Amino acid sequence: MKGVILAAGKGSRLYPVTRVVAKPLLPLANRMTMAYAFDQLKACGITEIAIVVGENEPEMRATLGDGAASGVQLSFVRQPEPLGLAHAVSFCKDFVDGDSFVLYLGDAIYGQSLAPIVQSFKDEPCANLNLVKEVEDPRRFGVANVVDGRIVKLVEKPQNPESNLAMAGMYVFGPQIWSVFADLKPSARGEYEITDAIQMLIDRGEVVRAGVYEGEWFDTGTLPSFLETSRFLAGSVAKIGEGATVEAEVGEYVVIGDGATVHATKLENCVILPGAHVETSGEICGSLLGGEIRTEGDLVDMIRHGDLTE
Ligand code: DAU
Repeated sequence: MKGVILAAGKGSRLYPVTRVVAKPLLPLANRMTMAYAFDQLKACGITEIAIVVGENEPEMRATLGDGAASGVQLSFVRQPEPLGLAHAVSFCKDFVDGDSFVLYLGDAIYGQSLAPIVQSFKDEPCANLNLVKEVEDPRRFGVANVVDGRIVKLVEKPQNPESNLAMAGMYVFGPQIWSVFADLKPSARGEYEITDAIQMLIDRGEVVRAGVYEGEWFDTGTLPSFLETSRFLAGSVAKIGEGATVEAEVGEYVVIGDGATVHATKLENCVILPGAHVETSGEICGSLLGGEIRTEGDLVDMIRHGDLTE
């Protein structure tokens, strides 16, 4: 079984930091986000992994290399434009080469191992098995109707969801998926949706199963969700990287990268990137900061990198 990690998004909700550091490389508890995806796939016995990249390709290749340092064998697959999850997967056919594969969304972080769910696919192979999780408001996800463990209907971001089971960012596919892409049309939001591709499998009578996941699940896409993920992974006691200098009162949920320098009155619930130099007369709270920042006053609920100010 192989692994495909989608990481071609622009990370625009974390601009300007993600203009300088690709989102999949941002540190969570002082490890790059991708490291958690590799850990999950390795726990499933998967080491041959393709990462779908976009404009971030040069930085991703330079940082991740062949994957040996992370105990995996990496290939990079270029998606020319981020036209949807199914579009991204369609470029991986040669890499997957007839095998079954786990599709993993690069911005997802899980508190529990996904290995039991991947094992259930191996024990009982089918066209597709998807991680689903009960959520309070499913409207911003793909939503699955499940009957006796089988997904019978899927809708992407429905206004009136028929169930509270969200598609939770990990999918296992057999080779049947490749035959549907040719007939797939863009959705109302203009994307080639993986949910629509899976619905086509269902319509063709293939067995599509749900693997219910009950652990924690985060996505790192926005500042609040990035900081929430960081809090979950790093815990409340500050993590100060090697060679970092901090002149401030250090409160809870603070992560400072290696070699960073921070001068402030107080730090709380924030992530400072490796090598950053941040100097302010006030406090830093609810923020993700990198590069060289010299300013006055509080830095609250902010994403900033050096003098990129967007
Ligand atoms: O988070 C789970 C949800 O992920 C599912 O419930 C939805 O069914 C699924 O469509 C997806 O929804 P999003 O709209 O939240 O996906 P997003 O655009 O955030 O992309 C997810 C990841 O895939 C992200 O790491 C970037 C990457 N990506 C995205 C697109 C659109 C690509 O590599 N290429 C792409 O073209």
